[in-house]
Amino acid sequence: MEENETDLMQAANIIKIEGKLDKKANDFEKIMLIYKSAMKVLKTKFDILNEEFDNFCEYNPIDHITERIKSPDSIIEKMTKRELELTYKNLVEQINDIAGMRIICSFKDDIFKIVDIIENFQDIEIIERKDYITNPKQSGYSSYHMVVKVPVTFTDKTIYVKVELQIRTVAMDFWASLEHKLKYKKNISKKASKDLISAAKTIAKLDDKMMQIKLNI
Ligand code: GTP
Ligand code: MG
Repeated sequence: MEENETDLMQAANIIKIEGKLDKKANDFEKIMLIYKSAMKVLKTKFDILNEEFDNFCEYNPIDHITERIKSPDSIIEKMTKRELELTYKNLVEQINDIAGMRIICSFKDDIFKIVDIIENFQDIEIIERKDYITNPKQSGYSSYHMVVKVPVTFTDKTIYVKVELQIRTVAMDFWASLEHKLKYKKNISKKASKDLISAAKTIAKLDDKMMQIKLNI
C-alpha cells in the first residue's frame, strides 16, 4: 500500500472509529456511505464488463447483478449473535458482508470465468474465498463466495473497503432464494431439510446438463 492508501479501519479522520456503535449516529451513516461507494466502484467494473461482453464478444456469461447494503438492524443482529462487542472497530474488521453483490451467471462454467476475471482485476484484492460449488454446504447451498477489497478514492486518500461477492447460476440462485424464504426465522423439520438437500442435488444435475447442452452446441 502506498502512503495515501489506507484501510477503512485506519481512516479515523473521516469517521470516529473508536467509539461504540450507534445506528442513529452520524458516524454510522458515514461508514455506510463508504461501503456504498465501494459498491459503486465494483458495480461500475461489472457494468463495463457486461457491456464489453454484449458488444465485443459472442457471448455474455452474466445474466444479471444484484446488490445490497446490510441494514443497521441486521448488522447489529449479526454482531450480537456472534457475541461481538458493538463497536465500529468490530463492525469494520469482523463483518465482511456489509456490502454484498451477487453475480448471477447463466451456466456453471461461467462462474469460473467470472472468478478468473476478478482474479485479473489489478486494483481488487481477494482476501477470502469459499467454493461451495465444488463443495456445497450441508444445507445443499451452492455458490462461489469471495470477499474482495475495493479501492475508494477520496480527495486525499484511497480507502480499501470489503465487499462480499456471491457468484452463482440462475438455478443456484433460484434454490437459494426459495430455501431462504422457507427457512427464514423458522425451524423446519428434518424431512423438509432432507427434501431441500435433494432439491439442491436436482438443481446441480440440471446445471451440469444445461452446461453440457451448451458445450455440445
Ligand atoms: P455468515 O455469518 O452468514 O457470513 O456466514 P459465513 O461467514 O460462514 O459465510 P458463508 O460464506 O458461509 O455465507 C454467507 C452468505 O451466503 C449468507 O449470508 C447467505 O447469503 C449465503 N448462504 C450461506 N449458506 C446458505 C444457505 O444454506 N442457504 C442460503 N439460502 N444462503 C446461504
Ligand atoms: Mg460471511
